[in-house]
Amino acid sequence: MPSQPKSGLQITGTGIYLPSHVLTNQDLEKLVDTSDEWIFSRTGIRERRIASETETSTWMGVQAAQQALTQAKIQAADLDLILVATVTPDSFFPSAACRISAELGATGCPAFDLQAACSGFVYGMIVAEQFLRTGAARNVLIVGTERLSSVVDWRDRNTCVLFGDGAGAIVLRQNEASRGILAFDWGADGASADLLHLHNPQSRGLATKPPAPLAPDCIVMAGKEIFKQAVNAMADSALRTLQKAGVNLSDVRCVISHQANIRIIDALVDKLKFPRERCFVNVHKYGNMSAACIPVALHEAGPEMKLQKGDKVLLVAFGGGLTWASALLEW
Ligand code: UT7
Repeated sequence: MPSQPKSGLQITGTGIYLPSHVLTNQDLEKLVDTSDEWIFSRTGIRERRIASETETSTWMGVQAAQQALTQAKIQAADLDLILVATVTPDSFFPSAACRISAELGATGCPAFDLQAACSGFVYGMIVAEQFLRTGAARNVLIVGTERLSSVVDWRDRNTCVLFGDGAGAIVLRQNEASRGILAFDWGADGASADLLHLHNPQSRGLATKPPAPLAPDCIVMAGKEIFKQAVNAMADSALRTLQKAGVNLSDVRCVISHQANIRIIDALVDKLKFPRERCFVNVHKYGNMSAACIPVALHEAGPEMKLQKGDKVLLVAFGGGLTWASALLEW
């Protein structure tokens, strides 16, 4: 049976922040043994944004959030919940959500981070939906913000060419007249954690550390294996969501997937047999911004894909954990 939410919700505002500093593939040729030809043909990435010292995850998240609040025509004081998805918070605690909340002036509003790597933002939307659906919240701010340039080893060509910095935010508002999230699917497989991880160098725990000579606090990834798992997990999750919603893929106007690699997106749409031109892509401009990919794509896809009220939009993400999540939205 398709699941029917008790009360609907609507995206009433979106916002993004992207650092102005552009790092091109040609710039990377000067740092590591790589080429524009290799990076573009293997990933689809041409350039990515790199944050300055003052463009922290908190700061970028605040800029995106303010834009989303303005578009939603609400004040920070109207928020009932602030969720922040990030793997690069400025501090373990206070959370990025508390720091962003303070900058916005949302004193008293519950705020917490949730961490599901590149799936974090869709996880956040699913968590928010539970509060909006039951009436426990009327306005929820969800932010995805990442400063991945601080956690890549710039000597490692296997990873440093892939990631970028940025932030995106949305305001979700309870709305009886709009169904909002028609269905979702989410999951995790911690048994494959070592395929993609960022070790906490202060931890004395058992987490696998990056192999020498990589820096102890950088992203480590088994690229080929992650590629395969990403395609399969995202396709399976998308199909489960559609089945729960009782919606055919042919009725989906646009797919917005996590932006890690154009070849992953191509393999996903091939597997789903979905028209490539109805799949939103911005990986060429920003690279992989982990939890910030989906909200930045949501912000850009509206005008670029000419989305109309009522269009069905399928979000699908995959990341470290391993984690995956998908959600079918009614625009
Ligand atoms: O957000 C979710 C997490 N991330 C992902 O979803 C990323 C998933 N993985 C991928 O996107 C791809 O696996 C990569 C882009 C990371 C790598 O592409 P690939 O086609 O799987 O290449 P590969 O790792 O098999 O490497 C092929 C060759 C290797 O050389 P040999 O061993 O064949 O001589 C690499 O050393 O390419 C070499 N290589 C590079 N060469 C030039 C690896 N990185 C680079 C580079 N420039 N930057």
